[in-house]
Amino acid sequence: MKKTLGPINALYPSLTVLLGSHVDGRPNFSAVAHVGILNHGQPQYISFGVNKAHHTNRGVIENRAFSVNIPSQDLVVETDYCGLVSGKKTDKSGLFELFYGDTPAAPMIKACPVCMECVLHDVLDYKTHNIFVGEIRQVHAEESVLADGAIDPARLRPLLFDMGLRKYWSLGPAVGDCWSIGKQMKKTSQGA
Ligand SMILES: Cc1cc2nc3c(=O)[nH]c(=O)nc-3n(C[C@H](O)[C@H](O)[C@H](O)COP(=O)(O)O)c2cc1C
Repeated sequence: MKKTLGPINALYPSLTVLLGSHVDGRPNFSAVAHVGILNHGQPQYISFGVNKAHHTNRGVIENRAFSVNIPSQDLVVETDYCGLVSGKKTDKSGLFELFYGDTPAAPMIKACPVCMECVLHDVLDYKTHNIFVGEIRQVHAEESVLADGAIDPARLRPLLFDMGLRKYWSLGPAVGDCWSIGKQMKKTSQGA
């Protein structure tokens, strides 16, 4: 039997990333889990919901650039810290060893196995949050998390964020091949 929970967002768990920006010329990182894949063509766009009160918000708008860093489970403490304290009061610029690609105001974290350089494409202005739409310009991935040239979630070991129980979760094992395991139903329905 199902229980009604009200108009909450039930899409969790979602990927936890560290959004990197420059605010007043200084690198800042914020934990962000309200992140979305917008399309799969070229260019590739992603979205983020960021509270207007956050320090990150100003940096992204001023520089029209940011980085998306995917921490593995080893960085759970540092990631949570970036979601607990604001760059408005605490300097987070020295937390990580950084590197840069071709996008000047997109500081990337060496310890994160996957980092993306993005430029700001659009801002949707909601009451409390800005929805940032970013264009992915480059992806930097550690060889150790790749399998056949693709990012392997089992090797990446991402942190999944859950708003309901307020926990970080890990991935379980793969359960099937996409665009493949369902083919067995085609045979059954064709036969029926
Ligand atoms: C796991 C986790 C996920 C979060 N996701 C978001 C998010 O998607 N959007 C948002 O505005 N804040 C989110 N936050 C809160 C910000 O990370 C937090 O307020 C942070 O201190 C803002 O830093 P800043 O002021 O330096 O930008 C999240 C916090 C945690 C711990």
